[in-house]
Amino acid sequence: MAWTAVILAAGKGTRMASCKPKALQKLAGRPLIGHIMSTLDRSGVDGVVIVHSTGTKNEFKKELRTSEKISYVEQKEPLGTAHALKIALPFVKTNNLLVLLGDVPLLSGPTINKLKYKLQNNHLVVLTASLDEPSGYGRINKDKEGRPRSIIEELDCNTEQKKIKEINSGIMAFNTKSVKKLLEKIEPNPKKNEYYLTDSIEIAYHDGLRTAMFKTKEEEVFGVNSKQDLAKAEKINRQNIAKNLMEEGVTIIDPDRIDVRGNLICGKDVTIDVNTVFMGDVVLGDGVVIKPFTIIANSKIGDETEINSHSHIEGANVGSKCTIGPFARIRPETELKEGVRIGNFVETKKSTIGELSKVNHLTYIGDASIGEDTNIGAGTITCNYDGAKKHQTVIGDMVFIGSGVELVAPIEVESGATIGAGSTVSKRVTGGKLTIERSKQKTIDGWKRPTKKEGK
Ligand code: UD1
Ligand code: CA
Repeated sequence: MAWTAVILAAGKGTRMASCKPKALQKLAGRPLIGHIMSTLDRSGVDGVVIVHSTGTKNEFKKELRTSEKISYVEQKEPLGTAHALKIALPFVKTNNLLVLLGDVPLLSGPTINKLKYKLQNNHLVVLTASLDEPSGYGRINKDKEGRPRSIIEELDCNTEQKKIKEINSGIMAFNTKSVKKLLEKIEPNPKKNEYYLTDSIEIAYHDGLRTAMFKTKEEEVFGVNSKQDLAKAEKINRQNIAKNLMEEGVTIIDPDRIDVRGNLICGKDVTIDVNTVFMGDVVLGDGVVIKPFTIIANSKIGDETEINSHSHIEGANVGSKCTIGPFARIRPETELKEGVRIGNFVETKKSTIGELSKVNHLTYIGDASIGEDTNIGAGTITCNYDGAKKHQTVIGDMVFIGSGVELVAPIEVESGATIGAGSTVSKRVTGGKLTIERSKQKTIDGWKRPTKKEGK
């Protein structure tokens, strides 16, 4: 069956108290609607129609990747969910459609598939959940056979109806032809003066159409209306991800203190300690250990590598059996080969460091290539920038660079070279020899240290 997903993402979003459309508020570093789009990618639909409010199309386009599948429809006035769906219908070319809400981001692909499946024998299917605290949601009014007879919005519920725990997630599947007719019949809600899509259930039931529902877990249907809800969604999402990772065998010291803002793929026997953040696409190999307060973005970490606490790694390719940090900053386009050691207060950028080389303390390595088994002493700096251009530093294998050396790029240090501590070198350094650049040490007789005058 061919399907179109209509995402309702217009409306006032008053409760969010923000200038940004509600569906573009960020959850785990991505807009709410971005989560929905990823779920749709997994479940597969033939088209997506996004209903947005006036003047917000470009904001949406900026956040979502371009695709021929997506059409944008502007809802000039927030006249309600039924109105939003109605103006989307001319863009629906398939016999079936899914209604998704831009503020219900945690829905899963398998649940969408179950809704689709259930529509095969029905005219409409509502996704529901049972909540201990159902307030704020529309309540499901069922008939004796368990079919939804109507949905009663919170504002229209009497005391008895308010006690109903089964709620409308807002997510529904419809036969396109049937919903067209139903939408024509919806009258504005007298209290809010909005056309409620939820009224379509009562009309369908009354007209003898087959209405059905599918119940899912509470976490999937959580609706984000306010900043408090956003924080709750963040927590649910965090716990879901941690649970999945643990099921895959990852040791997570405290599932409440790991943030995955993107896609984290882990090998076997990975351990992740507390207060760690993963952003974008991160791959951790087998046996990787991530210590507390570490941030890793868009990077690959090889097998058995240990990332010590307070390290910040972005856009890097770290080999296996490396040791990084504590307090290391590995910046984009860093490539570390097997067994590299990067110690505290070391920054690397756009550099390759060969097997078993060590950069252990207080160092900046930028625009450089370092060979194998080379030792870079504490406080070494590649002076890569002349104020206008960046220049390369090339260091060979088995080089020993003493502490506090400045390498003024462009420069090459040949394999086997040794550079004495405190040198500032700006010319090619010959291999197999000691190069040293220091002024002669002098002792000045009769020199006196300045002293403070009394009373000052
Ligand atoms: C809606 C449902 C409620 C359900 C809840 C689930 C209706 C009338 N109520 O209530 O039964 O339990 O979602 O979260 O449908 N929107 C538009 N145009 C509009 C109005 C809304 O595009 O004119 C969009 C909003 O951006 C939002 C979604 O539709 O993404 C739902 O609207 P919202 O106002 O949040 O409805 P709820 O009160 O949460
Ligand atoms: Ca809502």
